[in-house]
Formats: sequence, C-alpha cells, structure tokens
Amino acid sequence: MKLQSDFSLKPFNTFGIDVKAKLFARFDSVQELQELLQLSELKQEPKLILGGGSNLLFTKDFEGVVLQNGIKGIEIIREDENYSYIKAGGGEVWHEFVLYTLEHNLGGVENLSLIPGTVGAAPLQNIGAYGVELKDVFYELEAVNQETGQTQVFTNQDCRFGYRESVFKNDLKGQFIVTSVTFRLHKNHQLNTSYGAIKTTLQEMQITQPTIQDVSAAVCHIRQSKLPDPKQLGNAGSFFKNPEIPIILYDILKEQYPDMPAYPVSEMTVKVPAGWLIEQCGWKGKVIENYGVHKNQALVLVNYGGASGEKVRQLAYDIIHSVEEKFGISLHPEVNIM
Ligand code: EPU
Repeated sequence: MKLQSDFSLKPFNTFGIDVKAKLFARFDSVQELQELLQLSELKQEPKLILGGGSNLLFTKDFEGVVLQNGIKGIEIIREDENYSYIKAGGGEVWHEFVLYTLEHNLGGVENLSLIPGTVGAAPLQNIGAYGVELKDVFYELEAVNQETGQTQVFTNQDCRFGYRESVFKNDLKGQFIVTSVTFRLHKNHQLNTSYGAIKTTLQEMQITQPTIQDVSAAVCHIRQSKLPDPKQLGNAGSFFKNPEIPIILYDILKEQYPDMPAYPVSEMTVKVPAGWLIEQCGWKGKVIENYGVHKNQALVLVNYGGASGEKVRQLAYDIIHSVEEKFGISLHPEVNIM
C-alpha cells in the first residue's frame, strides 16, 4: 500500500500512453483501500481507480492519486440446483475469471472470453461481446464509498445496466470503488451461438455439439484474428460505441447505402456498427505518424509506439466529424478520455 509519487502510468494503460500520476498506490484488500481513503494527504486529491487500464485514453498527466485495485480471490460461495454463485475480487484479471468458470464447467461468460481488463471494471461499462453482456450473469457487487469509506452492496437492478452503461458511469460516477463482484452461473448450460462468426468458427472447428469450452475457444479465435493484442500493439478495444439511430433515418440511409448493416434494438431504433461507418469514411488501416486505425477492425484505434494521447484524441474527433458529415450520425467514445 506504499504511496508513490511522480509515477509512470505507461505499463498501466493498454494504449501504452506515457503519462505520469502525481500519486499512486495499490490496495490488496477492502481494509487497505479504506485506510488509503482516510489518509489526509489523499482526501482532497482527485482519484482515479485503475483496473486493467484497458478502457482508458490518457491525454495528460494525472494530477491526483491513481489507486490500483489488487483485490484477488475467486470462490464459489453458494450453490443450488441450477446455479453456482461465484464471488471474485475486483482486481482479478477478467479472463482468469472466465478460465475458472470453464474449469468448473459453469456456463454464462464463455462468450466474454479474452476481454481485456479486470473483474472490478467489468460492471462499470457492462462489458459485452458476441450476444452476451455482463448483466446476463451479474448477481451483485460490493463497492466502497469514496467519501465515507463504507461498503455497499448493489444488486443487478441497482446497477441500471445498459449498452456499455451502468449507474457508475452516470449518477454515481466517481463515487464508488468496486471491490468484488458475484456472478450467478449456470450448471445447465444455455449456449449463445447466434452470432454469425461463432457459428462459422465452430463449423470450421468441425464441432456440432459445442460445449462452453468450445464456444470459448471459438471466441478466442475470433478475437485473436480481428482484434489487436494490447501486449503487442497499444489499444483499448472498441474506441466508440455502436450508435443507435431511428429506423426512419436508417431507411433513408439504406436507399443511398444498400449494404449498411443494422441490428434491431427496439420498434423505433436500430444499432449500426460504428466500424462499418468508419470504414466507409476511408479510415480503416490508416496510419498517421505512430498511431492510427486498426487494419482489421475500424472501431479500434492503435498506438504503434510513443504516440501522445492528445493526438489519438484528435484522431477520434476527426473520425467523429467525418462520420457526422457523411451519414449525419454522431459517434460517442466508449473509452474514457482522461
Ligand atoms: N464492420 C465493418 N468494418 C470494420 C468493422 C466492422 O464493416 O472495420 C462491420 C461488419 O459489417 C461487421 C459488423 O461491423 O459484421 C460488426 O463487427 P464486429 O462483429 O467486429 O462487432 P462490432 O459491432 O464492431 C462489437 C463490440 C465489441 C465486441 C464485438 C463482438 C461495441 C462498441 N463493440 O463490435 O466489443 O467484441 O461487437 O460482439 O459494441 C469492446 O467493447 O472493446 C469490443 C471489442
């Protein structure tokens, strides 16, 4: 729990942006966190809670204290006929948790294999992939109030999950630190293989009766072929959210762009893949100095090494501007820009 100053954050953000924090400390238990929050020298400092740093773009040094969640531990705390309830520390690496569920043959997060980041950060943006979202298996979480240091439990309903959204990104932004998450996982598996790429990959693997382990393997294969590994190439996954637009607007655009994909969201709206919009504007694979747009997935911005966060932010604005101009659709970053 040592407090360090002038601390490089480069290894702590998957974009690999070279910035510093005025102060940095890691906590390995709820008690350590509570002690840190009571330190007089930290009381007035702006705070940033770091998980895996995989959904962040730093554009400048952080003039406050960065607190890294190091709370570990995964255990099955309760079971009934159909479900196992697993509690995981907020500092656990998300994919390690997924591997634990696969080893114990518990279903529900196999589609979320290989998502970068930590368990504690996952609920904040209700992580999702290949037809599954965290909220589908989320039971409850424990969080510490930054002001009072007291712990509080949030149920699935309390978290007000939406598409890459939760109450912790909105009304309660910056107020709580997630210390553990409890998931309700299925003993009787209900596979979700509706996503086209999963079906195709399982066919290629010649698997007709997939298990959760097979689905996980398929998802890992798809992700590795499409998305850059942050250990090799700085990035933060999807930089933008997929925009939701009125069906009336989609019908008009479809006349001009017959190939424009869309997925129904409600009776009035559809979701359009931002990757498609960005690619249509000519950005896919674009390299500017030492940063750019990934060649296999236009939704991912990349740092080829040594890029400044400010420049990457400018690229994001340029992309937003050109999509707006061509399609009249506003893109919104999914990544937290600091
Ligand atoms: N597409 C293009 N060009 C591109 C990229 C995508 O035309 O460069 C079009 C294609 O038509 C493709 C469609 O977009 O069929 C969907 O692409 P993909 O399956 O790659 O999914 P996505 O909508 O781009 C979302 C999530 C990803 C998640 C995948 C799979 C968001 C913002 N992103 O991407 O999540 O892995 O679905 O479920 O919702 C993340 O959040 O960091 C992330 C990677």
